[in-house]
Amino acid sequence: MVALTMSQKNIVAVIDFGGQYAHLIARRVRELGVHSEIFSWRVKPDELLSNNVKSIIFSGGPNSVYDKKAPKISDETMEFIEKQKIPVLGLCYGHQFISQYYGGKVIQGDQKEYGHTMIQIKNDQNLFKSFGKENKVWMSHGDKISKLPSDFEITASSDNCEIAAFENLERKIFGLQFHPEVVHTDNGMILLSNFILTISNLKKNWSMESYIEQQIKEIRDEVGENRVIIGVSGGVDSTVAAILLHQSIGDRLYCVFVDHGFMRKDEPEQVVKYFKEDLKFANFYRLDAQQTFLKALKGVKDPEEKRKIIAFKFIEAFEAFEKKLTKKHGTFGYLAQGTIYPDRIESAQPSETAAKIKSHHNVALPEKMSLKVVEPLKELYKDEVREVGRLLKIPSELIERHPFPGPGLSVRILGEVTQERLDTLKEVDAIFIGEIKKRDEYNNYWQSFSVLLPVKSVGVMGDSRTYEWTVVLRSVDSIDAMTADWSKIPYETLAVISNRIINEVKKVNRVVYDITSKPPATIEWE
Ligand code: XMP
Repeated sequence: MVALTMSQKNIVAVIDFGGQYAHLIARRVRELGVHSEIFSWRVKPDELLSNNVKSIIFSGGPNSVYDKKAPKISDETMEFIEKQKIPVLGLCYGHQFISQYYGGKVIQGDQKEYGHTMIQIKNDQNLFKSFGKENKVWMSHGDKISKLPSDFEITASSDNCEIAAFENLERKIFGLQFHPEVVHTDNGMILLSNFILTISNLKKNWSMESYIEQQIKEIRDEVGENRVIIGVSGGVDSTVAAILLHQSIGDRLYCVFVDHGFMRKDEPEQVVKYFKEDLKFANFYRLDAQQTFLKALKGVKDPEEKRKIIAFKFIEAFEAFEKKLTKKHGTFGYLAQGTIYPDRIESAQPSETAAKIKSHHNVALPEKMSLKVVEPLKELYKDEVREVGRLLKIPSELIERHPFPGPGLSVRILGEVTQERLDTLKEVDAIFIGEIKKRDEYNNYWQSFSVLLPVKSVGVMGDSRTYEWTVVLRSVDSIDAMTADWSKIPYETLAVISNRIINEVKKVNRVVYDITSKPPATIEWE
């Protein structure tokens, strides 16, 4: 795989000890305008060196440092960090790890501490400069440091935790028992800014304007005179990737839209119109594969089986078309993908303990095709991709579009997918989404959609008995899809939607609203 990276990067490494906030820390650093990336706690010195790491933050984590299986950074890496004089900030587990590594002591606290705590600052210089003498912070720990290594100084304490913060200024090592990255800590960004911009002396080098400029140049340098093929879905990631590539190499970019038929009502036509008429891409192709996909799913009820078949058929259709284009126009040098940073991190470092709930990896094209890969968004978080999209003048309707699963409506029809069920769900969903858009509520919710339960129930319409299907309306509020709460859609809105569905969609006589959060449910029903 060919890496296209930001050149000249000076980065902050967030070393992940398995804490839930590693991504949040990296995002906060980027908010300060400095490039940051996440590394495993198994990181080797040469990775830090080759990535030009100039500042390090150790994340929190669920373990106790004295557990046998607790993650520990190797001596080799710790010695390298020290030799290079890279400033280090440890948070929670990271704070305890530093203390233990340098000869201090960590014990189980008599009292666990979760939530808000007031801390008193003992040294208001360096990390705590401009932070205030007393502050509300967010704690989440059972263990605590009972003895500091020699040469380390306590810089803040709370009632329950004497060593709430420490420093060794000469070696530029700092520790915080609390979480400055979460919004519940007042002035947390001041601490991060002091550490990154002042103590580590990093310059602001991360903005989406400069990212676009740099990517366009790097794609050009990398791809040269080659042709590039990309699969687009109408989603924000692949659209932004395609536009960046097009700005870089023009009509040597070929976009293939495999229309599996499971998109929302009228969406495929909108995608085609956008690329061909609005953007005027010369090489944009829609493969109408609806019947192929429906046929392949005939009789299939199991959700994972559906996903597998769709992924397989997608690759098959894409590959066959690539061959056809190759015959006509010559070979492609590269396959472009809209992979974003979380996709990459999650597949590179699968959690050692996580059980597989459902497979989200839609397509694995690179393994199947012997093309080199370009991924112009692979260093960006979703909100950064959206920002790039805005700067590229992509319509806000597309940028703000709710997430949509690769297998589309096929995983929102429980049980077998048939043409009739698909048409029914498209109508229902168009009413639901249309109404919340009309009421300016769409952007209040993170993801809203409908699910068809091919379960029949009895109803009455006019004077007649009905015996038809049930649909579920699902809408959730979330930040990153890892957890979600059901949206509090106003009753009046729900009433209008329900009324319209029952009156306008044949085959449906009951509408229910899903009030389950994630966990224990997942966002999708399959
Ligand atoms: P769950 O249902 O796992 O969904 O809570 C979390 C987020 O992932 C989306 N999702 C998928 N996305 N392929 C995708 O590209 C899939 O197979 C898939 N399944 C779920 C879901 O819509 C939600 O945003």
